[in-house]
Amino acid sequence: MNRLFATKPLSLLLEEMAGENRLRRVLGPIELTSLGVGCIIGTGIFVLTGIAAHDKAGPALTLSFVIAGAACVLAALCYAEFASMVPVAGSAYTYAYATLGELFAWIIGWDLVLEYTIAAATVAHGWSHYFQDFIGIFGLKLPHALTNSPFDFQPSSGAFVSTGTAMDFPSLVIAALVTVILVIGIRESATLNSLIVALKVAIVLFVIAVGAFYIDPKNWTPFAPFGYTGVSFFGHTLFGQSGAGGEPLGVLAGAAMIFFAYIGFDSVSTHAEEARHPQRDVPIGIIASLLICTVLYVGVSAVLTGMVPSDKINIDAPVSDAFRQVGLPWAQFLISLGALAGITSVLLVLMLSQPRIFLAMARDGLVPPQIFGAVHPRFRTPYKSTVLTGIVVGLCAALIPLRVLAELVNIGTLLAFAIVCAAVLIMRRKQPDAPRPFRCPLVPLVPLLGIALCLILMFSLPAENWLRLFVWLGIGLVIYFFYGRHHSVLARARGYNA
Ligand code: ALA
Repeated sequence: MNRLFATKPLSLLLEEMAGENRLRRVLGPIELTSLGVGCIIGTGIFVLTGIAAHDKAGPALTLSFVIAGAACVLAALCYAEFASMVPVAGSAYTYAYATLGELFAWIIGWDLVLEYTIAAATVAHGWSHYFQDFIGIFGLKLPHALTNSPFDFQPSSGAFVSTGTAMDFPSLVIAALVTVILVIGIRESATLNSLIVALKVAIVLFVIAVGAFYIDPKNWTPFAPFGYTGVSFFGHTLFGQSGAGGEPLGVLAGAAMIFFAYIGFDSVSTHAEEARHPQRDVPIGIIASLLICTVLYVGVSAVLTGMVPSDKINIDAPVSDAFRQVGLPWAQFLISLGALAGITSVLLVLMLSQPRIFLAMARDGLVPPQIFGAVHPRFRTPYKSTVLTGIVVGLCAALIPLRVLAELVNIGTLLAFAIVCAAVLIMRRKQPDAPRPFRCPLVPLVPLLGIALCLILMFSLPAENWLRLFVWLGIGLVIYFFYGRHHSVLARARGYNA
């Protein structure tokens, strides 16, 4: 039992940072904020906003963005405290190892694979929607068999249906391209990322500024056609309306869906090891990127639902399509192009972060270091796990429907956020005197509210996601008990028998 809950001492974590096999410290506060924004604004705002406004929240989606943003700000304050204490690659995984012990660390590390790899697959899917929208402007079309995943989930019947296609081919291609860029190196990818982020923010501001002239306030009534709540307990509606498949509807249900749009701010903390002044700059990067995006999202969702009646919002490429619907095809062109570039930068950061989490797990012996710990001798990048991540992202994106991927990512990430909030509380008790260059304000209120809001949003997702989450975690536990437990560096150091 003791060994399952053995924690990795802070001093050991900091000592490891002095070791050989480490990444280069090249990132400052602007690069970190840019990495954050680069990872946040993407498929969530450009694609999922459509499904969420159309199916779940109507114009009240603006409130959904505020609620999901609040959950993230609470979690971000907790992340920032940890990121400043333990400026090591690995993010929530590392924090859990230092506080809750090895088993929890493994669970959260495995859960982060959902947050990064499966989110990257979701994002690649969104990229494909905008790619197809973009080439459609020129009258081009891919063969039908290559346009979408072979099956999809139909909310009206609550069942999976065949789409008559073979795979989503563009998402496979973009996953492969991003993998190649990432193997070449972080400095190059960070520069490219900064350029794309600037373009993306410009496009979002363009949507808000130009779209504002096309708002018809009549589209904002009724403001919340599906109500203000939407919470169920394993399929039994507790608050609000539910859809034909029993899934919760309303503002909270919308928030649980577009929560995806905020995922990524924590990727700043996975780059702590590459930051020049991690203790100061990582909290700045996390909080600044999140606040910038919250403001932009509320703006975009208000404009989008004001331009087009909610039931007419396109669910594939909603933002660019809204401009087509109001008769501005040139704007549709610009937005599709910007969305494509913007979504690419999200993929870059997500696929950049996953191998770094694996690297932290490989150092601890929980995943095979020969693969996940290998740093390229010249490029200094974790190249083998980058390629492996790329393959999984490409296959999931090509074959699994967008909505299914997005909801699975959301429930997994909400769980990770709740655990990080809990870990802050535990760490304050266990090690009250450890240096904390950034302190989460109003402890225990902020972490407790963070946990509560994350749990509410988990219960606002369609119930089958819980089952999928449990299956995912079950697979993770099997891997831990057959591999990680026997290879754990910490367990060996403490003299537990392998
Ligand atoms: N927040 C990221 C996106 O929306 C994952 O694409």
